Amino acid sequence: MGKSVVVTGATSGIGLATAIGLAESGYDVIGTARTAESAGLLVEAAEAAGVKVRYVLCDVADATSTVRAFTEIATMTGGGPWAVVNNAGFAQPGAIEDVSDEAARAQLEVNLIAPARIARLVLPAMRQRRDGRIINISSVSGRVTLPFVGWYAASKRGLEGVTDALRIEVAKFGVRVVLIQPGSYGTPIWQRGLQLLPDRTGSAYKQSYDLAGEVMNRASELSPPTPVVKAVRKALAAPRPKDRYLVGFDAHSAAAVEALLPTRVSDYAKGAAVGLRQPPPVLAAILARLTRRRTSR
Ligand SMILES: NC(=O)c1ccc[n+]([C@@H]2O[C@H](COP(=O)([O-])OP(=O)(O)OC[C@H]3O[C@@H](n4cnc5c(N)ncnc54)[C@H](OP(=O)(O)O)[C@@H]3O)[C@@H](O)[C@H]2O)c1
Repeated sequence: MGKSVVVTGATSGIGLATAIGLAESGYDVIGTARTAESAGLLVEAAEAAGVKVRYVLCDVADATSTVRAFTEIATMTGGGPWAVVNNAGFAQPGAIEDVSDEAARAQLEVNLIAPARIARLVLPAMRQRRDGRIINISSVSGRVTLPFVGWYAASKRGLEGVTDALRIEVAKFGVRVVLIQPGSYGTPIWQRGLQLLPDRTGSAYKQSYDLAGEVMNRASELSPPTPVVKAVRKALAAPRPKDRYLVGFDAHSAAAVEALLPTRVSDYAKGAAVGLRQPPPVLAAILARLTRRRTSR
C-alpha cells in the first residue's frame, strides 16, 4: 500500500476530487466526513472510480471530534499519516458590517484554527519519522481580497501566515509544508455560501447581495477542480515541492493585477464589479456599446 494521506472535507468538491485522484495515484487515502451519510458518497465515488478510500468521521470545527478522528487515523496508519491535506472549508459571504461575531468565529475556526490544530496532532509522529507533508488548501483570496467575502479572505490570509511560519519551524525535522492557492472552480462552495448570506432586509448592501447571489448561483458552472488535484499531487510527489502553488489562469491574473495596480485603482475596479461604484460615463458608454454589439450578433 502507498504512503498514507488524510484529506479533510473529502465528501464534496476539491476534497472529494483530491481523495479519488490521490487514491488513483496509489496513495492510501483516508478522507474525513462529517456524517456517515456523506462518508457514503465518498465510498461510492471511490468504488465508481475503481479505487479504495477509507474514511473517519470528523468535524474539524470541534476539537474533541478532531482528536478522536486523528487518534483513529494513527491506529489505521500504524502511528500517524505520512501527509495531511487540510482542505475542509467554507466561505462566509456578507459585508463586514453585516456578519456577526459568531459567524466570523465559525469561519476562522474551520478555515484557520482547524488546520493548525490538525498540524499539532500529526506533527509529533512526522518529526519522529523525520518525514511528512502538510498541504494547506488556501485560495487566491489569501492574496487578493474582494468585497463581501472579507471574513473568508481573512481566514485564508491567516492560513497563509500560519503556513509560512510552520514551514520554517518544521523544515529541520524533514516535514514539508505547502500552500495551494486555487482560483475559482465549479464546486458547491458558493451555492452553500448563499445559505449563509446575512439577512438582506434592511441591509445597506442589499443591492450588492442580489448581484452576489446571481454570481454565486452561476459558480457551479465553472470548470471542475482537476488542476487543484494535479497541484496537490505535485506537492506530495516532488522530492522538493514548491512552497506555494497558485492554480488557474484567474488566480495568476488576479494576483498579478493586484501586485501591479495601486490600491486606489484596484479598489475602484473591485467596487464596480460588485455594483458598489458606477464606472465613469465614458467607460459606461463603451461597455454599453460593446454589450449591444454582442447581443445584436
Ligand atoms: N471551489 C473554489 O473555487 C475554491 C477556490 C479556492 C479555494 N477553495 C478552498 O478549497 C477547499 C474546499 O472547497 P470546495 O470548493 O471543495 O467546497 P465544498 O464543495 O463546499 O466542500 C467543502 C468540504 O469541506 C467540508 N467541511 C466544511 N466544514 C467542515 C467542518 N466543520 N468539518 C469537516 N469538514 C467540513 C465539507 O463537508 P460537508 O459536506 O459535511 O459540509 C466538504 O466536504 C476550501 O478550503 C475552500 O476554501 C475553493
